[in-house]
Amino acid sequence: MILVTGGAGYVGSHTVLALLDKGMDVVVLDNLSTGHRDLVGNATLVVGDLTDKSFVESVFEKFPIEGVFHFAAKSIVPESMENPDTYYRNNIIGTINLLSTMKNHDVDKLVFSSTAAIYGEPDQIPITEESPKKPQNVYGHTKLFIEEILKQYFRAYALKSVSLRYFNAAGADPEGRAGEDHNPETHLLPIAFNVALGKRKEFTIFGNDYPTTDGTCIRDFIHVSDLAEAHLLAFEKLESGELSCHSFNLGSEKGYSVNQIVQTVKDITGRDFPVTYGERRAGDPAILIASSQQAHEKLQWRPKYSNLESIVSTAWMWHKKRFK
Ligand code: UFG
Repeated sequence: MILVTGGAGYVGSHTVLALLDKGMDVVVLDNLSTGHRDLVGNATLVVGDLTDKSFVESVFEKFPIEGVFHFAAKSIVPESMENPDTYYRNNIIGTINLLSTMKNHDVDKLVFSSTAAIYGEPDQIPITEESPKKPQNVYGHTKLFIEEILKQYFRAYALKSVSLRYFNAAGADPEGRAGEDHNPETHLLPIAFNVALGKRKEFTIFGNDYPTTDGTCIRDFIHVSDLAEAHLLAFEKLESGELSCHSFNLGSEKGYSVNQIVQTVKDITGRDFPVTYGERRAGDPAILIASSQQAHEKLQWRPKYSNLESIVSTAWMWHKKRFK
């Protein structure tokens, strides 16, 4: 049985679906602070918090867990700057409770949800796994810190792990079973859809004076179902012994500007809407584009859905259905 922490969240729920599609037994541990009960499909859901060590122990006692996919974390960048205490306690102490319980129960395989935010403002594009790690926010710092903790748990206790550093996760399950549902919403595509649906008056692009082709930020969007697939591949490599303690970038290796994304949203939704240019948002790097060569080579991972058209159209299908 696979334990998925944060399996009711955005990337977690798509990974739960991918595991269930493969016929695996899945137990989801989620505190439902931001996740949704209806997104875990037919997996078993236990509601509780990783910061409660005795609760985590009880989950490992109850279920025959062979491996862990760890998504549970607070992940809103501005919130992490306002309240570092909550972020360090939740993300880091929660993870240590999980790792310590895994150690006690001889569970030695973990796939960890990391982020491009660990790199901060890059010196060079594309970003490789070896690029300098200079997180500009507390959220990114918690994820980098956890990657360092994982190295020590491997060295000392042979707890094996793969950390997957997502670039901009976007899109929704092509079959419409799951998708993005954050409250409050801060991400580009769902906000643009809300404007397209008339739920917001206008779309504000944060800055048009960046050193990029059209002055707006450039991001590397990766389809959430491709991210889910990478987690399954990583777990297989841990099982086969091909990997033991590694980190991989997961991106499409293509950059699109915020302007281009907004135009694609208009094209795919068939709705025009007002767009204004506002101030830069604090902490936004101008350009983030991944090199995912290592994931291609070592995980044999090939994104299938990560062209802009399928990212925006699957996300739109989901958004219309969920928030109409
Ligand atoms: N943007 C706008 N207007 C909006 C919302 C977003 O112009 O209303 C812009 C942002 O300024 C940014 C781009 O759209 O340039 C993408 O913004 P998102 O908030 O969708 O995504 P981020 O790139 O900020 O964040 C993502 C992940 C984070 C992670 C970060 C790493 O969601 O978890 O990448 O830099 F930390």
